[in-house]
Amino acid sequence: MKTCYLIHQSKWLLNSVWFVLVLFLFCSATSYSACNQLDHDSLLSFSLGLAPSSPLNWSSSTDCCSWEGIGCDDKGRVTFLWLPFRGLKGEISPSLMNLTHLSHLNLSFNRLRGPLPPKMFSSSVLLETLDLSNNLISGELLPLSQLSSLLKLVDLSSNQFQGLIPPKFFQLAGNLTTFNVSHNGFSGSIPSQVCADHSMSIRVLDFSFNDFSGEIPAGLGKCSKLQVFHAGFNGLSGPIPNDIYNAAALQEASVPVNHLSGPVGDDIIRLTNIEIIDFSSNELSGMIPRDIGKLSNLKKLFLHVNNLTGFLPTSLMNCTNLTSLNLRVNRLEGNLSTFNFSTLLKLRTIDLGNNNLKGSLPSSLYSCNSLVAIRLASNQLEGQIVPDILQLESLSFLSLSINKLTNITGAIKILMGCKNLGTLIISKNFMGEEMPDDDSLLSLDGFQNVQILGLGGSNLTGRVPTWLAKLKNLKILDISQNQITGSIPSWLGSLPNLFYLDMSKNSISGEFPVGLTKLPTLMSSEINTQVNNSYMEFPVFTMPTNASFQQYNKLYSLPPAIYLGNNNLSGEIPVEIGQLTLLHVLDLSFNDFSGNIPDQISQLTNLEKLDLSGNKLSGKIPTSFKGLHFLSSFSVAYNNLQGPIPSGGQFDTFSSSSFEGNPGLCGSILQRSCDTIATSPTESPSPGKEQSFNTYFVIAGFISGLLVGSVSGSRCATDKLIKFLCFEVKATNQIQLRLDQDKLDSHDWLTRLDRFEEAKKGR
Ligand SMILES: *[C@@H]1O[C@H](CO)[C@@H](O)[C@H](O)[C@H]1NC(C)=O
Ligand SMILES: *[C@@H]1O[C@H](CO)[C@@H](O)[C@H](O)[C@H]1NC(C)=O
Ligand SMILES: *[C@@H]1O[C@H](CO)[C@@H](O)[C@H](O)[C@H]1NC(C)=O
Ligand SMILES: *[C@@H]1O[C@H](CO)[C@@H](O)[C@H](O)[C@H]1NC(C)=O
Ligand SMILES: *[C@@H]1O[C@H](CO)[C@@H](O)[C@H](O)[C@H]1NC(C)=O
Ligand SMILES: *[C@@H]1O[C@H](CO)[C@@H](O)[C@H](O)[C@H]1NC(C)=O
Ligand SMILES: *[C@@H]1O[C@H](CO)[C@@H](O)[C@H](O)[C@H]1NC(C)=O
Ligand SMILES: *[C@@H]1O[C@H](CO)[C@@H](O)[C@H](O)[C@H]1NC(C)=O
Ligand SMILES: *[C@@H]1O[C@H](CO)[C@@H](O)[C@H](O)[C@H]1NC(C)=O
Ligand SMILES: *[C@@H]1O[C@H](CO)[C@@H](O)[C@H](O)[C@H]1NC(C)=O
Ligand SMILES: *[C@@H]1O[C@H](CO)[C@@H](O)[C@H](O)[C@H]1NC(C)=O
Ligand SMILES: *[C@@H]1O[C@H](CO)[C@@H](O)[C@H](O)[C@H]1NC(C)=O
Repeated sequence: MKTCYLIHQSKWLLNSVWFVLVLFLFCSATSYSACNQLDHDSLLSFSLGLAPSSPLNWSSSTDCCSWEGIGCDDKGRVTFLWLPFRGLKGEISPSLMNLTHLSHLNLSFNRLRGPLPPKMFSSSVLLETLDLSNNLISGELLPLSQLSSLLKLVDLSSNQFQGLIPPKFFQLAGNLTTFNVSHNGFSGSIPSQVCADHSMSIRVLDFSFNDFSGEIPAGLGKCSKLQVFHAGFNGLSGPIPNDIYNAAALQEASVPVNHLSGPVGDDIIRLTNIEIIDFSSNELSGMIPRDIGKLSNLKKLFLHVNNLTGFLPTSLMNCTNLTSLNLRVNRLEGNLSTFNFSTLLKLRTIDLGNNNLKGSLPSSLYSCNSLVAIRLASNQLEGQIVPDILQLESLSFLSLSINKLTNITGAIKILMGCKNLGTLIISKNFMGEEMPDDDSLLSLDGFQNVQILGLGGSNLTGRVPTWLAKLKNLKILDISQNQITGSIPSWLGSLPNLFYLDMSKNSISGEFPVGLTKLPTLMSSEINTQVNNSYMEFPVFTMPTNASFQQYNKLYSLPPAIYLGNNNLSGEIPVEIGQLTLLHVLDLSFNDFSGNIPDQISQLTNLEKLDLSGNKLSGKIPTSFKGLHFLSSFSVAYNNLQGPIPSGGQFDTFSSSSFEGNPGLCGSILQRSCDTIATSPTESPSPGKEQSFNTYFVIAGFISGLLVGSVSGSRCATDKLIKFLCFEVKATNQIQLRLDQDKLDSHDWLTRLDRFEEAKKGR
């Protein structure tokens, strides 16, 4: 700017020769001069140190200042080394320490590994930017005595660092604005010197996804320019220090998934610039600060999975910029219908699930016409769903399960008008009512976008409703734990997208319809791909693979399943079942199926769970079942099977309980030799139905299942989020669902954890 002005002045004031001279000087200052020999050699050493061979094309010219990713000052000293996403592998050579004029170093998103050269931080007194994020660098940060006083940005995130953050770091880095060490294995406490008296420059601090323990250090309030503080997914404990609320510039305060306890603190209202508060998944208690409504810039308030009591503070209605409110899994109580939501016109998602809220569905919520997702599940809400809900034209996710709502016929009629509804979970309400099934519902043509429908656990009477036949987008249907009678309609098998059907624990009779063996999504992988690509309102993120983030808005990885256990189904299992080759779970337990086990089941090569227990099946266990390589849960207990139990393959992993209650079966697993004719008649009778696999909540839990899936042990150990989810598997004893890697933003991943949270709350 200044130079241009000078040139302009020169042109105006002076003759053209003088102008050309100025211009020449200007140009020569910005063009390179030949590079310094030491820097040249240092760079070459750096390049040579990369394994197995450097992808850099540096040797082609002697002037290192013209090399890719290199910038020099006017004296030919290297100031820039900027090679992100360059596929660099190997260790960082200590020769870099000889680049004493280096001010900007960016080697992010490569595959550099090994420890940092010992004097990484102290050699260049001119260093301003150090970005080594998203590599595989390990080892500790060594204690240091000297640091560039110009250092502004340090990003070591997403590496494999361990050990302590040298306490002196922040004292020395007086001009530091951004410090990001997230996604590493750092431990010890967060240095209390972060906001040492003379380091007022800090704006961004990210300590999240490490193993930090101890308390949030006092003194953060002194960071008068601090805008972003992230320390989630660590082992922090103790209270949220009140002092942090003195950091008046703070816009994001995010410390989810720690063990922080005590109250949120009324002083939080001093954070007048705050936009995002995420204190979720801690052990906070007390009430939500009464005057929280004074935080007029608040956009996201996440206090879910804590131990908070009291009601929603009335002042919250003054937070008119609020887009996301998540208070799920607390001990909030009070009459929700008395809260006036009508001012929250920007609200997109609200989750108040798993609390003790009473009253009816708050009618003022229906004025919040930006709403996309509502979850009020697991409260004590009563009353009926009213037509005003249709004002929420964008609504795509509605979960009201486990409440005391009544009038399911009215509810279905009204909700059929919600054109964008994709997920509807209203299980465990409407106790003992009749499943709505009149012709008027058929003609409404509703639920055209519904993919997930949960109507389980309500003791509903009646038959499988005919209007389901029109739900062409339905993928997941749960009508388990009702008192549905009649037979399984054959047309279920023609729903083009259905791949997960749970009708267990009803009184359904008749045969297994052959029509159901024609479910298109379970027959060919071609169509299945189509299902996997379909849109889901809550995005699903995968872990970085090949150094790039991928985001999926897809409903995928839920295992295709048919649960028909605990009904009165009879007749033979149709041989056509072998057509459902993509099925992962087949549960026909505790029915009256008779005849032989069809050999064709062995064509279901993706099966992970096969439960045929508690029926009247006879004949042998097909030896072809040995070919079911993914089978991890298998039972034919309590039937009239005979002959040898196949051995080999997965069959060597099942216990005797998989086979008990079949007097005619023999094999070493039952300690019953096949040589002697097995005729011991006194086996215990078939156990009660309640012993069978409890599939209820599968809908509520399935989304968590999406995440937890086949998360492997090693992955559990490396990623905090996944670790958290692995814990969930243990806590819920959920069936194993498949998903290798997943990562969701804080709103979404927690919407997938109902089941875990219920377990945590001991409900
Ligand atoms: C290496 O650099 C030289 C000179 O800049 C260029 O001509 C050549 O194409 C480059 N080679 C590769 C493989 O990029
Ligand atoms: C740094 O430069 C000096 C020469 O000035 C050289 O002796 C030394 O080996 C270099 N260090 C590294 C690590 O390359
Ligand atoms: C380093 O480069 C990456 C990729 O271009 C970029 O996203 C990042 O912001 C850079 N780091 C800094 C500190 O500018
Ligand atoms: C810190 O780095 C991580 C991973 O590279 C990134 O996701 C995160 O957004 C960064 N934190 C801040 C506050 O920018
Ligand atoms: C910050 O940088 C300036 C130069 O830009 C320097 O004079 C000053 O000493 C540094 N401050 C601290 C506290 O190191
Ligand atoms: C909402 O945010 C905007 C800026 O995003 C701000 O100007 C406005 O004051 C905020 N609303 C309230 C009620 O403070
Ligand atoms: C929640 O608070 C209650 C009583 O205040 C206490 O008994 C309980 O242990 C707390 N639960 C957790 C998980 O901190
Ligand atoms: C909301 O803000 C207005 C204006 O600042 C104030 O008069 C009112 O008391 C606030 N309401 C609540 C419930 O705090
Ligand atoms: C809710 O608040 C709005 C706007 O402040 C007001 O018009 C409406 O009367 C209130 N409703 C109730 C039920 O208090
Ligand atoms: C909730 O409040 C509404 C409106 O004040 C009232 O009609 C209703 O009876 C209350 N319900 C309960 C369970 O207290
Ligand atoms: C059920 O809801 C419908 C639709 O809102 C309504 O017409 C009907 O009267 C309700 N039935 C009962 C018993 O309240
Ligand atoms: C549902 O019906 C079963 C069988 O009639 C009964 O034992 C159970 O208590 C009922 N559940 C509820 C919540 O009413």
